[in-house]
Amino acid sequence: MKTKIIDGKLIASKVKDEIKAEVAVMIKNCEDTPHLAAIIVGEDPASQTYVASKEKAARSVGITSSIYKYPADTTEEDLLNAIDFINNDDEINGLIVQLPLPDHINVNKVIEHINPNKDVDGFHPLNVGKMVIGQPSYVSATPAGIMELLKRYQIETEGKHCVVLGRSNIVGSPVSILMSKKTNPGNSTVTICHSKTKDMESITRQADILICAIGVPNFVKADMVKEGAVVIDVGMHRIPADNEKGYKITGDVDFEDVKQKATFITPVPGGVGPMTIAMILKNTLLAHKKEYYS
Ligand code: GUN
Repeated sequence: MKTKIIDGKLIASKVKDEIKAEVAVMIKNCEDTPHLAAIIVGEDPASQTYVASKEKAARSVGITSSIYKYPADTTEEDLLNAIDFINNDDEINGLIVQLPLPDHINVNKVIEHINPNKDVDGFHPLNVGKMVIGQPSYVSATPAGIMELLKRYQIETEGKHCVVLGRSNIVGSPVSILMSKKTNPGNSTVTICHSKTKDMESITRQADILICAIGVPNFVKADMVKEGAVVIDVGMHRIPADNEKGYKITGDVDFEDVKQKATFITPVPGGVGPMTIAMILKNTLLAHKKEYYS
């Protein structure tokens, strides 16, 4: 089987180059340029790293980036006021509130407080609802990144059986809806598997396209995959390893095992991960232009 490794780093850099070119034209014409704001509450190291890489990526394409850092004991009211402040700032086009938030803050209340027109994470119920009924909206970055990879690798999805492992609000649910839409990529027959699914292997073995967002390292083995399937791995886990760093990054898919059976497969790292940040930037550019994901 000739397996193609989907190069998410390469596609993400193409998406970023396209954004950079559009922003360069705005600069040349002395127009306003896009501005992304990120709010981070507390000291979660993964969140700090994630927000720092978003800022670096934004700057690399000419998007202005502002980070608002708040201590872990910030009250919900203070956070909502900070969101109001950014909602009302006409110079800021996109706002993300980095998750997870401390336990004393109601995450749904926070997301619903973000102006849907600045919700470049696509988490606001209005954007989620519009995405479901096929209206212009902001689509959350990881599902949008997966669709972009399928599109740019010209992977046929119409009439295919797409099996999605995981039903999270951020990945599993939205990507299963996008794959079922009358679009290209899309038009697939979609099955969602989750923790209560019986005999999951018998379902995954029917998948022409298998999207893995289940959150368990190396969960998907070769015997769960159909010969010739397209395998998209959304997982990202740090597991102990016998190397200098003492750890390695792995996905939900046992890559070396599954690789021989797949026609296309995303690696971890370097697959879906880099696309997430690229799509946040794309959503910010769209928000600046008052356009939506399509
Ligand atoms: N935490 C983990 N992933 C994400 C994301 O895509 N957006 C936000 N806001 N927080 C996250």
